[in-house]
Amino acid sequence: MADRFVSSHHLDDDALEEEQRLRPFRFSEMAGQVKVQEKLKIAVEAARQRGDAMDHVLLYGPPGLGKTTLAHVIANELDVELTPTSGPVLERPADLGGILTNLGERDVLFIDEIHRMNRVVEEHLYSAMEDFALDIMIDSGPNARSYRISLERFTLIGATTRLGLLSEPMRSRFGMIERLDFYSDDELQTIVERAARILEIRIDPDGAREIAHRCRGTARIANRLLNRSRDYAQTRADGVITRSVAEAALKLHEIDSVGLDEMDRRLLLLLIEKFGGGPVGLNNLAAALGEEMDTIQDVYEPFLIQQGFLIRTSNGRQATPLAYAHLGLQPPEGEAQIRLI
Ligand SMILES: Nc1ncnc2c1ncn2[C@@H]1O[C@H](COP(=O)(O)OP(=O)(O)O)[C@@H](O)[C@H]1O
Ligand SMILES: [Mg+2]
Repeated sequence: MADRFVSSHHLDDDALEEEQRLRPFRFSEMAGQVKVQEKLKIAVEAARQRGDAMDHVLLYGPPGLGKTTLAHVIANELDVELTPTSGPVLERPADLGGILTNLGERDVLFIDEIHRMNRVVEEHLYSAMEDFALDIMIDSGPNARSYRISLERFTLIGATTRLGLLSEPMRSRFGMIERLDFYSDDELQTIVERAARILEIRIDPDGAREIAHRCRGTARIANRLLNRSRDYAQTRADGVITRSVAEAALKLHEIDSVGLDEMDRRLLLLLIEKFGGGPVGLNNLAAALGEEMDTIQDVYEPFLIQQGFLIRTSNGRQATPLAYAHLGLQPPEGEAQIRLI
């Protein structure tokens, strides 16, 4: 849930509302994720031609890359309704049953954070996904009877930040499992410029480029940095986001030249200064940082790994020479370097 993503990754109500406004509605409005989009477009088109529900899809990847957006786009392109829910909300089989029995033919059921669904509910989902039927027990003890309720053919779209936490039986029931990747600077520039048009923010291409380069490869962060730059442009400049305006705004918010925020740098610094660069176990790192292990794993690590600042070894997390260099520190003689060359 949102409260797990604390610090700068937290979304308040206003931010959620704005996210709705900026959320692409069609494939044509979405930047990047080219291969995933292509596969999904084909699946949508084929399902429409057959007049059947599309196969179940699992989307995974770090927060803010477009999983929820894609689920909505798919439903729109299929021209069906989307019912949103999330793993932790579905506490009992009855919660799931209520939702499933209300789905219309070919509709989309979107389950966010599907890795946080409890086992009992999950087991009920299996027959729903496979046979479009729900087995329910009435009464208990000697009077217990099992009923099978048939459901409309529907499409389940699951989203998760952690594919590894999904059980094998669950995974195997999805017809497509797609990973969303961090966006390139070009793609993010497109995303920033589109958001600026929708929000009527004045920005020049260099300003958009600067934000694109410093948003951790993440669409949601691009939108947030655009807003902070707008505030800055409005109050400290002449209202237009140029490169220098964006630079000044991002500096104020402690976003550095490659897009690392204060928490990213704290994590790397701690790893280097307290644990000698590692390797150190995730639990020790989390305790020292005062942060949840989940948040470190879902929110911070993926980008640090992708950028080559951090590696995961069998003994734990380790800082790379690039991390030392970026923080202006001297890597220890020998060992760390040799291991990585
Ligand atoms: N491919 C994209 N093109 C344009 N904007 C995007 C794209 N992906 C995400 N966004 C923007 O980022 C925001 C967060 O995306 P979201 O789908 O909520 O991410 P996730 O569900 O993966 O955490 C959306 O509201 C949307 O404005
Ligand atoms: Mg989401």
